Amino acid sequence: MRSEFISMAAPLLENPMVSRLSMCTHHRNKNRLTHVKEVAWFSFLLGKKFSLDTTAIVRGSLLHDLFYYDWLREGPRLHGFRHPDISLKNARKVTELTPVEVDIIKKHMWPLTIIPPRYPESFVVCLVDTYCSARDYLDIK
Ligand SMILES: [Fe+2]
Ligand SMILES: [Fe+2]
Repeated sequence: MRSEFISMAAPLLENPMVSRLSMCTHHRNKNRLTHVKEVAWFSFLLGKKFSLDTTAIVRGSLLHDLFYYDWLREGPRLHGFRHPDISLKNARKVTELTPVEVDIIKKHMWPLTIIPPRYPESFVVCLVDTYCSARDYLDIK
């Protein structure tokens, strides 16, 4: 499983626009690259369990927070609403995206972004992102 995950993730992780996320603080002391990798891994495991499109899940997860500002100190107002579109715009510079990958990135903040996920893959990433974010702040092991 791990090697399948790595083979899906490696091409994006080797892209400088993605690896640069390691320079961005995201939650507490966790950098943004670590966060997107965690979301990708747990979403991949759930995707396998439910026989979903795990390639889209891994790629969408790795690109879902593709922005470079410190969201606690700078960046646009209403960051929570706006960063999915910022991430999508940056992701399109990195790679071509499938409709499922676009939906994963655009809807990952649902229900904050009102339109619900269209695909089960987007719903999985949305749930896992919320779980990982909560875990970072609540110290859930
Ligand atoms: Fe996000
Ligand atoms: Fe996230």
